[in-house]
Parts: sequence; structure tokens; C-alpha cells
Amino acid sequence: MKATEPAARGDRADGETLVVRAEMLSRDYVMGGEIVRALSGVSFELRRNEYVAIVGPSGSGKSTLMNILGCLDTPTAGEYWLHGTRVSGMSDAELARVRNREIGFVFQTFNLLPRANALRNVELPLVYAGVPSSERRRRAVAVLDRVQLGDRREHRPNELSGGQRQRVAIARALVTDPALLLADEPTGNLDSKTGEEVLRLFERLHAEGHTIVVVTHDPDIAARTQRRIALRDGVIESDEPTGTAPAAVATAARPGGPGSSASWPAPAGRPA
Ligand SMILES: Nc1ncnc2c1ncn2[C@@H]1O[C@H](COP(=O)(O)OP(=O)(O)OP(=O)(O)O)[C@@H](O)[C@H]1O
Ligand SMILES: [Mg+2]
Repeated sequence: MKATEPAARGDRADGETLVVRAEMLSRDYVMGGEIVRALSGVSFELRRNEYVAIVGPSGSGKSTLMNILGCLDTPTAGEYWLHGTRVSGMSDAELARVRNREIGFVFQTFNLLPRANALRNVELPLVYAGVPSSERRRRAVAVLDRVQLGDRREHRPNELSGGQRQRVAIARALVTDPALLLADEPTGNLDSKTGEEVLRLFERLHAEGHTIVVVTHDPDIAARTQRRIALRDGVIESDEPTGTAPAAVATAARPGGPGSSASWPAPAGRPA
């Protein structure tokens, strides 16, 4: 079984690669001597190029699960393998490294640096990854082009519309070419027209081979993904295909999988 070995970069070309294996994940919070069980025995797998919605009422554990998937938090119990690496049980420093390499985050509130322009915001994860500056610049420029913001590179967040800010945040999430793109209510702060633009971008990224998990309260958004995992009181209540045809995937399946597009910057150390 490959799952216990360190992540092999070549694995990504394999259409059967498991991006996520979660086994009986639980997360307890201790609050004033009382234990709040935010997640309780959650198990599922995600394969490469899945597009999944996580839904459920407020307090059901969606963000808690996203934080664990994104290596921002560790489970109290259970096992988590991310892209072939067992991350449950890792130290904070190891988690940070895995997070930087394998995870792209998109938040409801964009979380951009206000004083930095779009280019700098997008470059930042590459700074942490130790990528040389000319290479950083090249990749940030390319990814901003991919989200159609090539003409807004020098703009700071307050000089951009809400939808543009979220696209900068998506570019930042993508610039490391992560195995997994996680978005927690990515359209929650956008009007419906701008939200639609962002959803179309996710659909395009999915068609290009990315693996995407989106937390949403909106049943219409969930219906546009391929699979819906519903949480309630920290457990998976249902985990079903939405019935949305994977048409976009079929038209875009590429032999090399994500990262092989001619316009996509292939990070060093990874087969293009
Ligand atoms: N840091 C924390 N300390 C204590 N309890 C917490 C903490 N974070 C979350 N919880 C509790 O864990 C449960 C799950 O919270 P979580 O934030 O995952 O819910 P959610 O599904 O994301 O809700 P929402 O839709 O409102 O964002 C809730 O009961 C919450 O009160
Ligand atoms: Mg939440």
C-alpha cells in the first residue's frame, strides 16, 4: 500500500491517486472543562480531480473538517493521509511544510495582504516555499493571467472589486500547484453575479484537473459540484453524487493531469 510512504511526486500523473484518505477523524475542543465534539468519526476518500461540496447546518463541523484537511489543525483521533503522506501525528513544523506544498486555501474574506499588490500577494506562498524571485515572478504572472487578472497585477486589494479580490486569492491558492484546493464559503461575501464568476472559475479549474473541496450553505452551489458530503453534529449524514455530469472533466482530461497545461507553470521538482 502506497499510502504510508512519503508523497511521491510522480503519483500525481496516476488518475487513481488518492488525494485524501480520512479514517475516523474526530476533533474535540475543551471549553471550560467541558468537551465539545466538533467532529466524530468522519471517514471518506477523495480521488484526484473530484469536485466536492461539504454542506451542513451551522456548527455541524464543516470548518473544523476543512482545517484538518488543510493541515491547519490536527484531529484528536483518527488518521489522515494527504496525497500519500500520513499527516495526522505530524509536528506543527512538518504540517506547515505539507500545507505549503499540498494545500491551496480560499477563504470567504479573501485574506489578502492589504498593502501588497496582487502580484506580491500571489507570490507569497512561493516566498515561504523558498522559490527564487525570478521564478516566483514568472509563476505569479502566469497564474494571474489564468484568472484573467493580468492587467491588475499592480493593484492592491482595495483597488480591486470583490470578485477580483477573490480571484487574486484563488491565484494565490493555485500558485504552488497544490494537490488540494479548499474553499470555505468562497462566494459568501460576493453578490450573486460576482459569485457566479468565481463558481465558473472553480468549474474551469476542475475541468483542468484540480481537486476541489468547497464548503457552502448554498444548495445551488452544492448541486454544481459532483459530490455532496453532508455533515450533521460532527458526523457524515450523507455522502452522495449530486448527479451533475462530469462533462467538464471529460472534455478536459489531459494525459498529464493537473499542471500539464501549456499555460500552467510547472513547479520545479515536479513532472510537467
Ligand atoms: N476553537 C473552538 N473551540 C471550541 N469549540 C469550537 C471551536 N471551533 C469550533 N467549535 C465548535 O465545534 C462545532 C463545529 O464548529 P465549526 O466551526 O466546524 O462549524 P461549521 O459547520 O463550520 O459552522 P458554520 O456553518 O457556522 O461556519 C461547533 O459546535 C463549534 O461551537
Ligand atoms: Mg464554518
